[in-house]
Parts: sequence; C-alpha cells; structure tokens
Amino acid sequence: MAIDLRSDTVTRPGPDMRRAMAGAEVGDDVYGDDPTVNALEELAADMLGKEAGLYVSSGTQSNLCALLAHCRRGDAYVVGQTAHNYRYEAGGAAVLGGIQPQPLDLAPDGTFDLDALAGHIVTDHMMYHFAVSKLLSLENTYNGVVLDPRYVSRAQELARSKGLSLHLDGARIWHAAVELGVPPAEVAEGFDTVSVCLSKGLGAPVGSVLVGSEAIIGEARRWRKMLGGGMRQAGVIAAAGIYALEHNIDRLAEDHARARRLAEGLAGIPGVTVVNRATNMVFVRLDGIDPAALQRRFGEVGIIVSAAPMVRMVTHLDISDADVETVIDEFARFAGA
Ligand SMILES: Cc1ncc(COP(=O)(O)O)c(C=O)c1O
Repeated sequence: MAIDLRSDTVTRPGPDMRRAMAGAEVGDDVYGDDPTVNALEELAADMLGKEAGLYVSSGTQSNLCALLAHCRRGDAYVVGQTAHNYRYEAGGAAVLGGIQPQPLDLAPDGTFDLDALAGHIVTDHMMYHFAVSKLLSLENTYNGVVLDPRYVSRAQELARSKGLSLHLDGARIWHAAVELGVPPAEVAEGFDTVSVCLSKGLGAPVGSVLVGSEAIIGEARRWRKMLGGGMRQAGVIAAAGIYALEHNIDRLAEDHARARRLAEGLAGIPGVTVVNRATNMVFVRLDGIDPAALQRRFGEVGIIVSAAPMVRMVTHLDISDADVETVIDEFARFAGA
C-alpha cells in the first residue's frame, strides 16, 4: 500500500470498524429511529460537554448547518481569511444563507489580532451601512497547530462582550485535546456550537457531528433537512463513528510522535526546510528542488505528498514508524544528501 501523507482523510476503515458497521442496529434516522445514529450523537455531545449532537455527512455540511443556525440573511460571521469554513467550503454560507463572511487575517498559530478583531465587529443595528456581526468562528487545530487556550478565552470574552455567538470548527479537536492532555470537552468549552470530524485521523469513512445546546441543534437539524442531509439507515456509517471515538483517539499521540520524528529526520537535509511541525502535520519548504520532480520520484516509490505551495505531510492511522523512516530516506536520496 502507498505511503499516503496527503491528509489524514485518506485512512480506510479496518476490519474491527467494518465489523462494527456490519453489525449496527439501524432505523430511519429522518424519523429519529436509528438507534446507532442516536447513540453516536449522544456520545459525541457527551464527550464535548454539550447537550445535543447532529450527525451529518461531512465537516463542510456541519459548519454550514452551524452558520445557518446562528445567522440570518444579511448577518455577518467573523472568520479567518485562511479558515476552512471561509476559504475551502465553496462559499456555502453566502450562497445558501445570504450570510456575509467578514474574513480577517490569521497568524500562523491560528490566532487573530484581537484589537483588529474588535475593530471589525459591528453590533450597532443603527449603523445601517454595515452587515451586523452575529458570530465569531475559530478553528482548532489550525494547520495542525493547537490554539493557545489563553488566547481562546480572550477571543471568547471579546466575542461575548459584543454579544456574538461562538462556533468552533473542531474538525481535529481530538488532536488538540491529546496534545494538551485534556478531555475534548475542555477544548470545546465556551463555544455555542462545535463541529467535529470522524473521518480525519480517526479512521471512519464518513461523517461529522455538530454539537451544542438542544435549541441550536434543533435549528441545525432543520437546516440539515433543507440541505438534503437527512439520511435514513445511517447507523451503518454512524457505527464507524462510534468505533472511531471509542478506539482511535488516544492513539493520535502516536501520529504526533511520528510527525515529530519525520520533522527531526528531515532537518539537515540540503534544500529541505521544516517550516512547521504541529500535532500530526509537517510543512516543508523546498529550495532548489522542483516540487513536481519530487512528487514524480516519490510516486515511483509509492509515496504521496501534497506539494503546493509547500510540501505538506500528515501522519495518520495507516502510517507506521517504518513508513516515516522510508520517507526520510527517500527525501535524503532525492536531495543527494
Ligand atoms: C479544518 C477543517 N474543517 C472542515 C473540513 C471539512 O471537512 P469535509 O471534508 O468532511 O467536508 C476540513 C477538511 O479537511 C478541515 O480540514
């Protein structure tokens, strides 16, 4: 099998997860009758310290349901210029909700300049030139980087002081929790809604859960229906999500250790500069090495990496210690070290 480091979304369900899927009790989830979906929603809500959960097909749908539940047509949400739910989700909030994004620059550690943020929040309805800010959206982890909990508290205080709601794109909240050594509920604390993914690093083939209060999740459920996201005997896939949450979180520490080893092993190879390593992601700048040639060569030996604009490598469930050593050796060979 190829050593595929493009993303932690490439993992495949293993035999135990597939067994759990095959044995899942199911019902019609649009009627609320699927016991496995209900169990997954409860488990995720519980782990994240919230009242309720909503199982959806993807992180994109989860973030969109949250934005639609928080904001009305003509409202604005404040979000990172490079955040997933602004830049990489096809403009869904604007197209489908008439919600105006207010994107602001994020530092490489995933933080806003809080003074700049304060200056961009519009709360005065009488200032009729502007869309009124309703929501602040953060992302944790951001490019693998765990947000500093003190920064999160300050950003939350600022948002609350201005009357804004708070959403967290916690696609990889599990990585943040494992790295900080705290329960996921602690990372989710203070947010009205949190979107978490089961298919990034945890090995499930599909699915995300949006968690929050009963009221906001009820609202999000209506939007999921409108988006065509109501699924029927979805317990078959929800079972993979339960398996992922119960078995594959603690082991993320191994992925982080492998990313650390990868970064250490690459340091010192000529033309290869490790720009950042955080949780399970390693970003590398190439100097005097053609990224396309590197990808071609790696392709011949069964290694797949993203290479634009930087080489990104993400460790996950299907990457072993030996794979990491192979990648380090191949980098060194290619660079002629
Ligand atoms: C931070 C973040 N949020 C949301 C998503 C969207 O998830 P999906 O691909 O399941 O729509 C991704 C996808 O990689 C992501 O990295």
